[in-house]
Amino acid sequence: LQSSYILAVETSCDETSVSVVKDGREVLANLISSQVETHKAFGGVVPEVASRKHVEVITLMLEEAITASGIKPQDLSAIAVTQGPGLVGALLVGIVAAKTLAMALGKPLIATHHIAGHIYANRIIEELEYPAMSLVVSGGHTELVHMEAEGKFEVIGRTRDDAVGEAYDKVARALGCPYPGGPHVDRMAHEADHAVTLPRVWLEADSYDFSFSGLKSAVLNVVNQASMKKETLDPAAVARGFQESVVEVLVEKAIRAVRAYGSKQLLLSGGVAANRGLRKALEERCAKEGIHLLIPPMEYCTDNAAMIGAAAHLKWQRGELAGLDLQAQPGLSL
Ligand code: KG4
Ligand code: ZN
Repeated sequence: LQSSYILAVETSCDETSVSVVKDGREVLANLISSQVETHKAFGGVVPEVASRKHVEVITLMLEEAITASGIKPQDLSAIAVTQGPGLVGALLVGIVAAKTLAMALGKPLIATHHIAGHIYANRIIEELEYPAMSLVVSGGHTELVHMEAEGKFEVIGRTRDDAVGEAYDKVARALGCPYPGGPHVDRMAHEADHAVTLPRVWLEADSYDFSFSGLKSAVLNVVNQASMKKETLDPAAVARGFQESVVEVLVEKAIRAVRAYGSKQLLLSGGVAANRGLRKALEERCAKEGIHLLIPPMEYCTDNAAMIGAAAHLKWQRGELAGLDLQAQPGLSL
């Protein structure tokens, strides 16, 4: 079988990333330029600013990634790019860059789904076995995805309101942490010596759906009440209570889904997969229950183009190419 060398571009949100990946598994270069410092001042991602920042760095990053990979441009097999979901202006920058490069080099173009990318980040560490279950936890998504076979995605549960990363960021803000707050809440939860008791939202007994807005409101209540009564509040204890609630629900539902669908592997995916509390709880629980758990290395959990290259390789093998008329799809479904 012929090897693939895919140059991948990811610009769906506030990270510009370009990677070169061999056979969807071996990362030869993975450059990430984060805009976090720019957006911090606004307390969140400003779409217009994100697009402009992508434009500023993308050309240089393409050059640098190719150089770092040691692969000659003419030896690339294809150019892959995130088509969606994401911010339309941000996606557009990556798509135009990828199309231009594909056209200039005479290489095929491959369109990738951002969440498929997060899921296939797991293939960088280990070959996947099907059926597989993925727990996708990011800033925009919280889903349980059943994969009967390669490339077949069935969303069996999703959040009915906030995505888990979004809830983390909002709670972090209420606790006085800068954007993006997830890592701060994670750190505070580990430093706390006790936890504030907060509700668990299970929804209907047989549901794989999630809901985090009630929990987020419960946190805001605790914070507001303390300030009204002029009581001192231990933010770390709130962070720990919040994290315990989130992790317990995510772990329980994921394990139940694995059992119900006879999944051979559980794949943790998305930015919140970087959460230490979630990683540890899933590792312990899966070890106890004999479930084969995969978690991508930290650098491939949050947004990166290596995962896009990993997903694109499978499309390349199947000959699923995109045309130069490829459009950004901000609401693309799996
Ligand atoms: O996948 P990602 O990089 O971007 C999206 O596709 O949304 O996920 C970003 C999200 C943010 O909400 C961020 O706060 C959260 O992942 N995150 C974390 C941690 N690291 C990143 N949340 C909790 N604990 C962490 N350690
Ligand atoms: Zn993402």
